[in-house]
Amino acid sequence: MGKDVIVACDFSSAEQVYNFLDKFEGGRKPFVKIGMELFYAEGPQIVREIKKRGHKIFLDLKLHDIPNTVKKAMSVLSNLDVDITNLHAAGTVRMMEAAIEGLTRPDGTRPLLIAVTQLTSTDQESMENDLLIHEPIDKVVMHYAHNAKVAGLDGVVCSPLEAGKVHDTCGSNFLTVTPGVRFADGDIGDQKRVMTPAEAKKIGSDYIVVGRPITAADDPVAAYNRCVAEFVD
Ligand code: C5P
Repeated sequence: MGKDVIVACDFSSAEQVYNFLDKFEGGRKPFVKIGMELFYAEGPQIVREIKKRGHKIFLDLKLHDIPNTVKKAMSVLSNLDVDITNLHAAGTVRMMEAAIEGLTRPDGTRPLLIAVTQLTSTDQESMENDLLIHEPIDKVVMHYAHNAKVAGLDGVVCSPLEAGKVHDTCGSNFLTVTPGVRFADGDIGDQKRVMTPAEAKKIGSDYIVVGRPITAADDPVAAYNRCVAEFVD
């Protein structure tokens, strides 16, 4: 898969997400991220419906449990036929290997599987005090990315600021999916370390995940097309 803009559809009902997606009828169909909020509100049917409308889907449920449970959950998710799904690398290499096993269908195909390393909401201080991890956070992020690669995963979710280093550590084919994207003239909201779509492209992100700059825009289709023009074209 090539570079693409993934729209984070952080809505709490099917009605809201369909109202939003209806605006794109007749144009380029966005790659859609379905997160916990929408999935827990509407269940797996929402994934089938959005897929039926012709969108690619990143199912962002960030699994983290014992290997056997994650394997079985991934096996169920593989039936939903999404394009990308994810888990927490903190679950260990063995959990990630089990996830790949569960996700792989009898014919050998599977959705892409990427790992969350350290959440961008975790900083050095909370990692040391709450998790008792005393290494520098960027070293921890690169180690978790390396573990994901060793387990056979396809890439990681990371800050666009880390994408270059992840590629240096894990190879250029290892995918970097990067949230924290804002337009140069836009509101950054609660994101701390942001990049524009054009900067994310320059640094080598494979996919950018963009939520509110598109979903909360006066003209979401124009905002999406601007992202595509800066990042993909
Ligand atoms: O609205 P905004 O563009 O900030 O949305 C970014 C999306 O990416 C949200 O769905 C958020 O949960 C997700 N995300 C993030 N930072 C991470 C991982 C996921 O912002 N480290």
